Amino acid sequence: MKIFLDTANLDEIQTAYDWGVLDGVTTNPTLVYREGAQFKPRVIDICNIVGGPVSAEVTASQDDAEGMIRQGLDIAGWHEHVVVKVPCFPAGLKAIKALASEGVRTNTTLVFSPAQALLAAKAGATYVSPFLGRLDDIQHVGMDLVRSIVMIFENYAYECQVLAASLRHPLHVVEAAEVGADVATMPFKVLLQLMKHPLTDSGQERFLSDWNKLQEQLAKS
Ligand code: E4P
Repeated sequence: MKIFLDTANLDEIQTAYDWGVLDGVTTNPTLVYREGAQFKPRVIDICNIVGGPVSAEVTASQDDAEGMIRQGLDIAGWHEHVVVKVPCFPAGLKAIKALASEGVRTNTTLVFSPAQALLAAKAGATYVSPFLGRLDDIQHVGMDLVRSIVMIFENYAYECQVLAASLRHPLHVVEAAEVGADVATMPFKVLLQLMKHPLTDSGQERFLSDWNKLQEQLAKS
């Protein structure tokens, strides 16, 4: 499973890249706003670090297919790694189809049902992003959506990749891998949590303490 960071923070992206675990990045208008950054230069900066797919979202209104296509073509020209994020509406399908015919990769965002994912794949989306954490927030089991989309895409051999999004904790990532998601995108905090284990901490503390005791013992002998 590929690991993407869901952030527009350059330090976080650089850190994950340096660890050798970063395959790509997803951004959204909220994440860019949080960083107080200009959209285009920030997307280009992210692309230059990552060396993999970086999702950047169109912001035309949800009924404005032509606006989405125009913006999508513009955004796609910013950097070879850019993937254009298109919201999951009927006009979005038209934009996905048009962008795909121009060779532009797309990520369908705000997917909350298997039927939406199926239609996005048929329209030519490169990725679909089921937002499972937001479903969990309203007492639906978000992982069931990911599982269902994976099954449907396998049944019909769609090339569209399932990008598990809106992940809130490490178990989401592990379960996304178990059900066969192609990609998991997560906040940096969740990536950190994935590596954390109390037994690793206590085990290392013991090893270092015993190593120091050994040095003292040898020094005295
Ligand atoms: C994915 O591309 C989205 O940016 C993201 O995962 C949304 O997550 P949230 O529900 O935590 O805002």
